[in-house]
Amino acid sequence: MNETLSLIKKRVSLRRYKDKDIEKNKLDKIINSAMRAPTAGNMMSYSIIVIKDPEKKELLSKTCDNQPFIKKAPVLLIFLADYQRLYDYFKICNLKEYCKDNELKFIKPNLASIFLGAGDAFIAAQNAVLAAEALDIGSCYIGDIVENYEIKKDLFDLPKYVLPVAMLSLGYYPDNYNKRISNRFDKKNIVFNEKYKRLDNRDLKEMYKDKESKLKENNKFGAENFGQYIYARKFNTEFYKEMNRSLEVMIKRWLKE
Ligand SMILES: Cc1cc2nc3c(=O)[nH]c(=O)nc-3n(C[C@H](O)[C@H](O)[C@H](O)COP(=O)(O)O)c2cc1C
Repeated sequence: MNETLSLIKKRVSLRRYKDKDIEKNKLDKIINSAMRAPTAGNMMSYSIIVIKDPEKKELLSKTCDNQPFIKKAPVLLIFLADYQRLYDYFKICNLKEYCKDNELKFIKPNLASIFLGAGDAFIAAQNAVLAAEALDIGSCYIGDIVENYEIKKDLFDLPKYVLPVAMLSLGYYPDNYNKRISNRFDKKNIVFNEKYKRLDNRDLKEMYKDKESKLKENNKFGAENFGQYIYARKFNTEFYKEMNRSLEVMIKRWLKE
């Protein structure tokens, strides 16, 4: 099989790492690959913060929903939506005066910029994931980076138009690591031809049949089906509430006049 396709097929999220640093030349390759990602208008409306400091890792472990493996990764990469750089550049370009002279409305970073910046950041992160994998370095996304915005803003000096979007933990696979490739839903439920297909009750039952069959009786949430289980495990949780609260704070700050 084609090397790239095989790499994509075999990638897994890695949450346990060999006790080995990532060499500078390898980390450079991962970051250079992230920077080859496409971005809206080639504006690169994202930034990356490289974290190696144990104290920062410890704090990130705690403030990203208490996930201990985070602090054990040799390197963490934080991907941020970033319009501050462009906005600051606009300031030295006399943009306000230019708009006034040319009867143009001066628009500050808005919802569209959050959407595009977050997209740029995620796409760059995925390039990093695949580049790491190609170097035998495993990775895991940490979505909880968007929690506790106030702490992260102070820890990393984030100005108004810079938002954390995703974090990757990176580290070598442990020796003899047994990769477990997780299942995906059937393609017919995810990919549609020419127009959207809303799944009916029968389709949905069929789609979740496999997950349903693996749901153990007496699971700790007392769920009768997979819907109840995933709701209790992911949605009705402190981390989900915190994620929503924190996102509201950061988005309000960005949109504030
Ligand atoms: C946006 C995003 C956020 C994620 N956040 C976490 C996380 O906080 N902790 C974690 O252990 N895994 C996290 N993951 C990894 C997913 O659990 C994982 O991708 C999924 O279970 C599929 O497994 P696979 O990546 O091995 O195929 C995240 C993945 C994505 C894409």
